[in-house]
Amino acid sequence: MTHRAGSPAPHQDRAGRMATVPTMPRRAALALGAAGALTALVPGTAAAGPRPAADRFADPFGLGVASGDPAPDGMVLWTRLAPDPSSQDGGMPPRPVEVDWEVAEDDRFARVVQRGTATAAPQDAHSVHVELTGLAPGREYHYRFRAGGHLSPPARTRTAPAPCAAVPALTVAVASCANYGSGHFTAYRALAADAPELVLHLGDYLYENDGDGVRDPGGPEPEDLAGYRRRHAHQRTDPDLRAAHAVAPWLVVWDDHELVNNWAGAEGKIAPRRRAAAFKAYWEHMPLRRASVPRGIDMLLYRRIGWGSLATFHMLDTRQYRKPGGSITGAAQERWLLDGFRDSTAGWDVLGQQVFFAPRSDGGKRQTWDAHPDSRDRVVRGWTDAGVRNAVVLTGDEHEHYANELPADPGEPDGRIVGTELVTTSVTSGGDGSDTSEDDGGGDGGGGDDPHIRFRADRRGYLLARFEPGLLRADFRTVERVTEPGAPVRTAASFTVPDREPGLHPG
Ligand SMILES: [Fe+2]
Repeated sequence: MTHRAGSPAPHQDRAGRMATVPTMPRRAALALGAAGALTALVPGTAAAGPRPAADRFADPFGLGVASGDPAPDGMVLWTRLAPDPSSQDGGMPPRPVEVDWEVAEDDRFARVVQRGTATAAPQDAHSVHVELTGLAPGREYHYRFRAGGHLSPPARTRTAPAPCAAVPALTVAVASCANYGSGHFTAYRALAADAPELVLHLGDYLYENDGDGVRDPGGPEPEDLAGYRRRHAHQRTDPDLRAAHAVAPWLVVWDDHELVNNWAGAEGKIAPRRRAAAFKAYWEHMPLRRASVPRGIDMLLYRRIGWGSLATFHMLDTRQYRKPGGSITGAAQERWLLDGFRDSTAGWDVLGQQVFFAPRSDGGKRQTWDAHPDSRDRVVRGWTDAGVRNAVVLTGDEHEHYANELPADPGEPDGRIVGTELVTTSVTSGGDGSDTSEDDGGGDGGGGDDPHIRFRADRRGYLLARFEPGLLRADFRTVERVTEPGAPVRTAASFTVPDREPGLHPG
């Protein structure tokens, strides 16, 4: 995982050719000079030189590549070497392996702007996390890896815009709850085709349970590091998921199933060894920064990502510090969040978080913000006290789409609206679903006695949210069925939220 020789952007002449290539062997430099950067990572052209002959193995890139946590000057590039994903060590030799990476401005890798070498270590399951700096803000880039003479598939990523830059629009895809055994990842395939600039994954990236028998879940329920690594590797063998990772950088936060159903805080029911194993495997397989490396049973996952003057994403961890009957965020995270509201100058302040935020008279699931009303009150007051321009909550976990208006006083859902919640359904969890609870905002809005719950749809899918300075547009995308591959995907409903007018408008 160590990042070595993140070579500064090499000097280029006007044709984009490399003038110097400090980290590559001389033969590769010559190849670049002769034919441009395209050949730099192509097997056979640069694999000779100092590489030990023992670093040869079958294609190790079956788990794909990913990127995440974009900043104005870089992001994390991820891969894990695993020629044999189902085996305990991924089929890798028990020693560190060097992995070359390169970043280009174009998808043919003719204009490479950075390259370097990272070390994939056996103690990190031969995963690689390259934290890039020195890239230009607000730009699309392409990246790929090479190891053992094999070239990874290429993928697209991007940097965030500069902190105060004006940004005309940002399209974000939002997903959660992808139980491998419960169905096909058609939603991920469609998400990739929609080409969002950023993907938010709001938890239940994978499941420790076996799902509904549609697909082989990939071994027994995990309880140790080897088991969680096997589950993650099995998840990544899905080509639709790999395509979704390859289209844009992701911001990930977990919910419960990355460890075990309904875990919360330090209740003591989960063996520390199991918790540490799940956390470590999660970090190994996600495009997360070094700041999130777990320390035993602790992992720092809440963080903020700015997108110019357009939006700020406050990514929350409502699992690790949750106290039954008490705070859902813990005191430190809450302080950090409220400070973030006060410091924000963003057009849209977006919470990326796990569980249903709006009040619900039917009780809904027990493990939502309804069970932590004081925490919710302080967040809502934080918006108004800080004068946040537009408050938006993005939510996973429910396994259904919802669109909710957020009242200033949860006890008075008919009262003043201060924010908007968009809840994305699951990728597969819950199976095919039905149209029975679908509603486009008329009648009871799918929310029973709750007029602020404007839309509900019991289908699988994902959410597309397009942020502009003057408008947020949400498209609720649904998959006809997940028990068979390749089902049709449609937009079940769309809503808009005008700038400084919290509340949902159909269409
Ligand atoms: Fe879930």
